[in-house]
Amino acid sequence: MPASQSDKSALVIGASRGLGLGLAEEFAARGWRVTATIRHEPAPAALQRLGGRVAVEILDINDPHSVAAFLPHIANRMFDVVFINAGVGGPEGKTAETVTPEEMTYLFMTNAISPVNLGYKLLRNVKPGSGILAFMTSILGSVTLSGGSYAPLYCASKAALNQLTRSFVAGLNENITVLSMHPGWVKTDMGGAGADIDVATSVKGMVDVLEAKAGSGKHEYLDYRGKAIPW
Ligand SMILES: NC(=O)c1ccc[n+]([C@@H]2O[C@H](COP(=O)([O-])OP(=O)(O)OC[C@H]3O[C@@H](n4cnc5c(N)ncnc54)[C@H](OP(=O)(O)O)[C@@H]3O)[C@@H](O)[C@H]2O)c1
Repeated sequence: MPASQSDKSALVIGASRGLGLGLAEEFAARGWRVTATIRHEPAPAALQRLGGRVAVEILDINDPHSVAAFLPHIANRMFDVVFINAGVGGPEGKTAETVTPEEMTYLFMTNAISPVNLGYKLLRNVKPGSGILAFMTSILGSVTLSGGSYAPLYCASKAALNQLTRSFVAGLNENITVLSMHPGWVKTDMGGAGADIDVATSVKGMVDVLEAKAGSGKHEYLDYRGKAIPW
């Protein structure tokens, strides 16, 4: 089907740069309608260039006033994919011994609490049956694979996101698919220039996985190639 004829739509939360921007670009390239959220105007040029099939909304996932202002803008919209991507790296070099309560609160709010809070609020916007709610987690959130001392607080925040997502799914009555996605180690502001793969490779892989998993009705923890990750 030519890209311009797709009737699919995606909502990408945290799309100003990095993987969220890349996801918006990839969905748009496949002809999907895209709603992309950013924290502040103006929208980055890369988003503006995507044209009329991409709508930009303002949202800070940690700010209840911002969430309350955003939700009415999409109140009657149903999306094939809602992708909650926003996240932060956490205080550099800190451990449980050195982190401040403020730093820890900000990290856990952004990476664990606010994404799942938003997941509850956006459930009504995910198409029943074929719709997917995706959370951007990381392989670093796997308790099973965890090893070494790299970024312990970030790892803990993504492990918390995974556990909160599992509890969220356990209480779901909706017939949707939920995916906890690991994008790979990606060259972004967060991933750094020395990362394994570029944004285009990661987002192409993730959107392929999303298209393959539509309608599965399961909750899976997958990387950008569709490989299962142990919790
Ligand atoms: N890059 C990697 O290798 C990698 C690996 C595993 C997982 N991840 C995860 O992938 C996601 C995206 O990472 P990235 O590498 O693309 O990072 P990034 O380039 O730093 O982008 C982070 C995005 O999240 C947004 N954001 C941060 N806090 C927010 C908030 N409170 N409300 C709304 N949006 C917010 C940022 O918006 P602003 O521009 O306004 O700050 C930005 O759009 C994160 O969840 C990250 O943990 C990344």
